[in-house]
Amino acid sequence: MPELKIINLCAGVDNKVILRGINLEIGNGKTILLMGPNGSGKSTLAQVLIGNPKYKILSGKILFNNIDITDLPLEKRVKMGISASFQIPPKLRGIKLRELAMAILRKRGEKNPDEKIRRLVKEMKLEGFLDREINVGFSGGEMKRTELFLILLQNPTFVILDEIDSGVDVESVGILGKVIRNELQRDGRSLIIISHTGIIAKHVRIDIAYIMLNGKITCYGPPTIVLNHVLEHGFARCKKCEGICYVD
Ligand SMILES: Nc1ncnc2c1ncn2[C@@H]1O[C@H](COP(=O)(O)OP(=O)(O)O)[C@@H](O)[C@H]1O
Ligand SMILES: [Mg+2]
Repeated sequence: MPELKIINLCAGVDNKVILRGINLEIGNGKTILLMGPNGSGKSTLAQVLIGNPKYKILSGKILFNNIDITDLPLEKRVKMGISASFQIPPKLRGIKLRELAMAILRKRGEKNPDEKIRRLVKEMKLEGFLDREINVGFSGGEMKRTELFLILLQNPTFVILDEIDSGVDVESVGILGKVIRNELQRDGRSLIIISHTGIIAKHVRIDIAYIMLNGKITCYGPPTIVLNHVLEHGFARCKKCEGICYVD
């Protein structure tokens, strides 16, 4: 039974319809890659799944572990085990990374928060960032590593990573990939990785790749086939697939 079921979901923001009937099932420790051109609605889907109140669901349903979460607020979804990183992470002026990390771990009742933080910042090369304000003056790669670090502290079962590989240098993508493999995939957590380039697919296991165009999933298939198709033809031809991706 997949954890997350998206049924005929239509949603939008500021009176604009963006998602136009999304059907997806994700779970059982699988990782899906969601690709699509800029503006196709990928980030909107991430925001709707985590429960950003700015985004309005117009029709359809979201089930998580068979519970209807369509109208649940963000905090409840996080408590149920869903976590998301955003394409443009917010700057948290006045809040140091160490303070937020400690607050998350204490709230979760972690017995040895210092040790957990020490281990993860070492693995993610974030040692120098603990006593800085979150994302203030951070580079692209530093912000994405910080986002993933904060997600790991929440110990989620279901993770959504939006453009984790965008604006990030090769070394940071390597670190992010290693941490996703070791800390998330090895423990059998389920993931939606959103990427318009697919670069992250070189570093992590992808079980199935989906293409989104104009607020709809148009095709899907094994990641190598879908990625090669996109690299060769761009996204335009994905309109024709209407289901399983083919290469012509
Ligand atoms: N607040 C908003 N008001 C109006 N249009 C928006 C708003 N936010 C996003 N959009 C539009 O919705 C479409 C989908 O955006 P987005 O989900 O960010 O796409 P993607 O992540 O695939 O690039 C884009 O055309 C974008 O301009
Ligand atoms: Mg986006």
